[in-house]
Amino acid sequence: MDKEQQPQTSPHVLIFPLPAQGHVNSMLKLAELLALAGLKITFLNSDFVHEQLLRHTDVLSRFSKYAGFDFRTIPDGLPDEHPRAGHGFMKIFEFLESTTKPIFKEMMVNIKPRVDCIIADGVLGIAVDVAEELGIPVIQFRTISACCIWAYFAVSDMIQAGELPIKGKEDMDRLITSVPGMETFLRCRDLPSFCRASDTMDSTLQRISQDTRKNFEGHGLLLNTFEDLEGDILSHMRTKAPKIYTVGPLHLHLRTRLSDSSRTLLDQSSNSFHEVDRSCLPWLDKQPKGSVIYVSFGSLAVLSSEEVIEFWFGLVNSGKRFLWVLRPDNMVEKGDSIPVELIEGTKQRGCIVSWAPQEEVLGHGAIGGFLSHSGWNSTLESVVEGVPMICWPYFADQQINSRFVSQVWGLGLDMKDLCDRQIVEKMVNGLMVEKRQEFVKSATKVAKLAKECVNVGGSSYCNLDRLVEDIRSMKL
Ligand code: UDX
Repeated sequence: MDKEQQPQTSPHVLIFPLPAQGHVNSMLKLAELLALAGLKITFLNSDFVHEQLLRHTDVLSRFSKYAGFDFRTIPDGLPDEHPRAGHGFMKIFEFLESTTKPIFKEMMVNIKPRVDCIIADGVLGIAVDVAEELGIPVIQFRTISACCIWAYFAVSDMIQAGELPIKGKEDMDRLITSVPGMETFLRCRDLPSFCRASDTMDSTLQRISQDTRKNFEGHGLLLNTFEDLEGDILSHMRTKAPKIYTVGPLHLHLRTRLSDSSRTLLDQSSNSFHEVDRSCLPWLDKQPKGSVIYVSFGSLAVLSSEEVIEFWFGLVNSGKRFLWVLRPDNMVEKGDSIPVELIEGTKQRGCIVSWAPQEEVLGHGAIGGFLSHSGWNSTLESVVEGVPMICWPYFADQQINSRFVSQVWGLGLDMKDLCDRQIVEKMVNGLMVEKRQEFVKSATKVAKLAKECVNVGGSSYCNLDRLVEDIRSMKL
């Protein structure tokens, strides 16, 4: 295939994501959109992430058609055996600071051609620091929802108002009133999970709060969301950061701008760190329309054996068909015996895979609902396909995303903090039967708005063009 044309005058943009699936996935999509617009892109992956991508995807051949598109790698500093999922993942920030930051600085000093603009993951304070030290313009990209960023921004206000810390389990239903725009529905339990720290000086809470404040100070804040979904919160945010580019949902935006042949290439590949098991697609083909609940908790959530068994009972007892992504690191521990009724129930109505082609699955006509951890990519993918959700948030932004899904956007049910078989069964039947019509109606409406915003003249479409123009004006 011919390489996309790229004039000599193209600015050089370096894109640096946090080395995690949800971050790399959406930032690769942004990178492709910018390459399509003719910018020279260098995409910086951690060694570990790049190895996973090379093993499980054809990412190199997909991007080889863009002139000047390069991948570079850098160590994340974590020892090889350190877990890169679950709460242990948060340890990475210490290693990025001590190991990755000096290497990144040296790379930026020596890179040719000179980088005109860094698009840094907004949680990578190290990239923002280096860019500022070297005088390189930096645009920060947050992979999460605007509502979560706005809550993080308000952490110091919540502390000052005495609303944080949360005082134990019995305090969880207290209403939080110092996040503008959320005064009537945000409870302690809906705050991003890091706000559950018992000490307001907790290092993670402090770092996130400070990094988020810094997101509002750079050359721009780039978000994978769209105006018709989060416009109210965005208008509050714009009082603090005038230059906010909303360009999402990125996966749909990219599909819309690609030619037919490139779209096919995109469908056949993925940005996955895991081997995709496509056997669930022929299984779905055999199921009635809207009859299957898809269950996936993303790439980072690690469930205990007890939680896996409770979900499993709930799904089987609901009597509904289900497709479940059970990653190998989420399997019940060796030696745990799986009750026979679960094996039988799964044979009759279920399909379990270790990693699914999620976007295709959610777009399949057999899917009627999504039991999700409310990761932001998964939420947007469900929104785009008009699939109602049951939310079981695990950590980080997911607690607030699930409140917006259920309470603000009316797209599903929130089973926050609960995980037993009766609740799972009740939720599945609530979503797939009792409240089905209501949720499908609002999900269909929001899906239409998502499509409009990435079409020519839509808000995300125009914002991406504005972003490209602004980056062009940074070229020295
Ligand atoms: C993390 C955080 O958990 C999330 O809250 C934050 O918004 C981004 O970073 P992750 O936990 O992986 O991401 O969740 P999510 O954001 O939903 O991303 C998961 C991605 O993996 C999605 O794009 C999804 O399509 C993909 N996926 C998941 C698959 O392709 N197959 C699967 O079987 C499961």
